[in-house]
Amino acid sequence: MRMSVIGCGYLGAVHAAAMASIGHDVVGVDVDAARIAALRSGRAPFFEPDLDDLLAAGLASGRLRFTDEMSAASGADIHFLAVGTPQRPGAHAADLRYVDAAVDALVPYLRPGDLLAGKSTVPVGTAAGIAERISPSGAVLVWNPEFLREGWAVHDTITPDRIVVGVPDGADGERAATRLREAYGTALESGAPFLVTDLATAELVKGAANAFLATKVSFINAMAEIAEAVGADVTLLADALGHDTRIGRRYLGSGIGFGGGCLPKDIRAFAARAEELGHGDAVGFLREVDAINLRRRDRAVQMVVDALDGRVHGTRVAVLGAAFKPFSDDIRDSPALEVAVRLRGLGADVVVTDPAALENARALHPQLAYADDRDEALRGADAVVLVTEWDLYRREMDPDRAGALVARRIIVDGRNCLDPSSWRAADWRYHGMGRR
Ligand code: UGA
Repeated sequence: MRMSVIGCGYLGAVHAAAMASIGHDVVGVDVDAARIAALRSGRAPFFEPDLDDLLAAGLASGRLRFTDEMSAASGADIHFLAVGTPQRPGAHAADLRYVDAAVDALVPYLRPGDLLAGKSTVPVGTAAGIAERISPSGAVLVWNPEFLREGWAVHDTITPDRIVVGVPDGADGERAATRLREAYGTALESGAPFLVTDLATAELVKGAANAFLATKVSFINAMAEIAEAVGADVTLLADALGHDTRIGRRYLGSGIGFGGGCLPKDIRAFAARAEELGHGDAVGFLREVDAINLRRRDRAVQMVVDALDGRVHGTRVAVLGAAFKPFSDDIRDSPALEVAVRLRGLGADVVVTDPAALENARALHPQLAYADDRDEALRGADAVVLVTEWDLYRREMDPDRAGALVARRIIVDGRNCLDPSSWRAADWRYHGMGRR
């Protein structure tokens, strides 16, 4: 099939390359010329495992192109809309300006019968508005939310755990579902469930999925608060809960909480839209989910202060991690970086290190000191704070070797990912979040 992908960020670039890899003829379109130049040269403009290889293969096959000219979308059977929907400045609602601009720019190139498949995360009701706007062209709007995780984006796109397609009622909708089944044929052959819904349900699935995941993380972090108050261990609690298959252990990782370009802004936009609909109460708990999450950052900072006996000013603090999670260089709403910035605000001499996100962190927070190498960050530190659970810190950091580098053996484990006994055995004062 011929396809266009409008918007080549984390979502669109991976989608374009993945669609080309399964045999489709794909053009990726983006208004950002630098991003297009990188993609054309086979380089992902952000850190995403396996994406460079997929891009190189797609470009070499001749089935994958990138351009900043919207006219190149002309002639595609399916146009995927994959632009960003950030949080609106000064509000909790989603900012739809990129969606609106992309639709406006694409409309002149839509032909009767073309499919426009929305993948961006949007407030419920957006799709119905877009359907109306494109209807004079004769194109049909479907909603096809994306569930990929950064760091696993290639895997999640090629072998998704489900494909959800919201279609309009009637024959147009049936034809659209059939075409999307063909488009995703490879994933369907490998067993991915294909769910056909109406437009609003498809939009809701995405918002609800992220809201559920955020709630699960905040649930365990709320338990961490209680565990801390009574001297219990939240990680053992999570293990015990997780054995109940109705609950499951995944997403019960406690610590400094969730961040990134999706979960925080998506729960806020979801709640804002519910309020517009007059049903804010139905998701009022999401405000609490957000508040629990943000409290984790305060708590991590306070733990460092306490660990240093209240004397932070002038101490050297090594911050291990800047990205919002491992296998990513994304620092959008990163709890890791926020902890670093706040410690610096308290007068600590903060040195941040991260295997992938340093360049982005440096650009956003030039006031912090950075170390390219973990050991360089550890050298002379009065306290170490682990805030992104890269293997480099979680698995490959030896307590004795690290101990020889630091000035004081104090570690705050903001991801509850270290084995306390091995650190204590090496004479470290280990502090987990909600752990004894
Ligand atoms: C999330 C969803 O997982 C994807 O399904 C969705 O497609 C995506 O948002 C999106 O809307 O585009 P992502 O933001 O890449 O994906 O990252 P996650 O792996 O979900 O992690 C989100 C945050 O939660 C991270 O800061 C992570 O450290 C935190 N987290 C995750 C925890 O604190 N504990 C956990 O147990 C799991």
